[in-house]
Amino acid sequence: MDHSYCRLLLVCSVLIVCLSNLGARCQLTDDFYDNTCPQLYSIVQQHVFAAMRAEMRMGASLLRLHFHDCFVNGCDGSILLDGANGEKFALPNKNSVRGFDVIDAIKADLERVCPEVVSCADIVALAAGYGVLFSGGPYYDVLLGRRDGLVANQSGANNGLPSPFEPINSIIQKFNAVGLNTTDVVVLSGAHTIGRARCALFSNRLSNFSRTNSVDPTLDATLAVSLQSLCAGGGGNQTTALDTSSADVFDNHYYQNLLVEKGLLSSDQGLFSSPDGVASTKALVQTYSDDGEQFFCDFVSSMLKMGNISPLTGSAGQIRKNCRVAN
Ligand code: HEM
Ligand SMILES: *[C@@H]1O[C@H](CO)[C@@H](O)[C@H](O)[C@H]1NC(C)=O
Ligand SMILES: *[C@@H]1O[C@H](CO)[C@@H](O)[C@H](O)[C@H]1NC(C)=O
Ligand SMILES: *[C@@H]1O[C@H](CO)[C@@H](O)[C@H](O)[C@H]1NC(C)=O
Ligand SMILES: *[C@@H]1O[C@H](CO)[C@@H](O)[C@H](O)[C@H]1NC(C)=O
Repeated sequence: MDHSYCRLLLVCSVLIVCLSNLGARCQLTDDFYDNTCPQLYSIVQQHVFAAMRAEMRMGASLLRLHFHDCFVNGCDGSILLDGANGEKFALPNKNSVRGFDVIDAIKADLERVCPEVVSCADIVALAAGYGVLFSGGPYYDVLLGRRDGLVANQSGANNGLPSPFEPINSIIQKFNAVGLNTTDVVVLSGAHTIGRARCALFSNRLSNFSRTNSVDPTLDATLAVSLQSLCAGGGGNQTTALDTSSADVFDNHYYQNLLVEKGLLSSDQGLFSSPDGVASTKALVQTYSDDGEQFFCDFVSSMLKMGNISPLTGSAGQIRKNCRVAN
């Protein structure tokens, strides 16, 4: 795909992110480690590539890790911290969020080459970017210069991360709370063009939906039958593709699926079908299902916005030596 017109948009959106910092110097940059750790890019790239060659899904997992990091205390690597009070044990993350070993392996290599220079939060942001790229999605210059937080926030993760069971309006509010708008909700939900979800997160749509003892009326009947058979008798841990038409490819099929009621999660289909979503999100779903290039360009600008949620910069926070514990 020709990204030349994306590049132009990219320049604009970076500028907007900077200006909206209300006078503060724009602190994340795309050349932050060029003098201190030029090997950063090749090291992260090699690890993400190898991990995805072993399991394509890892690209999706790394993308989600960045999202779940940024929504809780900003993009500060707090999701990586171990301990019983960790974010990784919050309800939306437990037995769900993945990729910690890949981040550890990248960090170990970086500590050998340029010790105590690259933050764990930046590793996650960069790994997410390569996860998108190697899945066939758009390339973008990941902005860097984040520092690592000292604490995890488990209640922040439980309260701040969106649930697939909540109404679209309340998901929009959670995005608003971190400075993202309704367009960002629809665009970033397009991340569900890759990756998997467990039955426990959508089996509510397969029976006794809204106490009517029937399948969710906004779920395609054929897909419902195959999901019922996948999930039957299991404990909810069985997984299936979020984008049934091209599971591991980053494209705009996610939106095309929504037009024919083949969204997997209630929060996916709701963007097109719920009365809640109709006014503000339905038209955007239609736009991105028609125009994959528009989706790619808007995805890049929303990722830059998400990656810029309350970063620690300057002398705030620290550069962790081990991503799992504060120094
Ligand atoms: C809009 C609100 C969102 C909700 C309610 C939501 C919910 C979920 C759920 C329930 C899963 C499956 C988890 C499991 O099976 O354990 C999932 C997977 C995933 N989510 Fe989201 N999500 C949302 C937005 C996002 C955003 C903004 C991104 C990234 C930009 C994202 C990226 C992903 C990816 C890539 C996966 C697959 C991960 C894998 O296979 O390991 N999601 N999401
Ligand atoms: C945890 O997150 C909440 C927002 O959900 C915030 O109000 C609170 O200050 C955070 N706590 C810590 C210790 O960072
Ligand atoms: C969301 O913000 C972007 C800029 O970051 C803007 O272009 C877009 O129009 C906004 N969408 C809504 C619904 O306000
Ligand atoms: C659905 O409801 C029926 C009764 O209406 C009940 O017997 C059945 O166990 C319920 N199924 C689930 C999965 O909750
Ligand atoms: C689902 O998987 C998790 C993690 O492997 C495990 O702890 C849990 O017991 C499993 N649940 C069921 C019902 O099998």
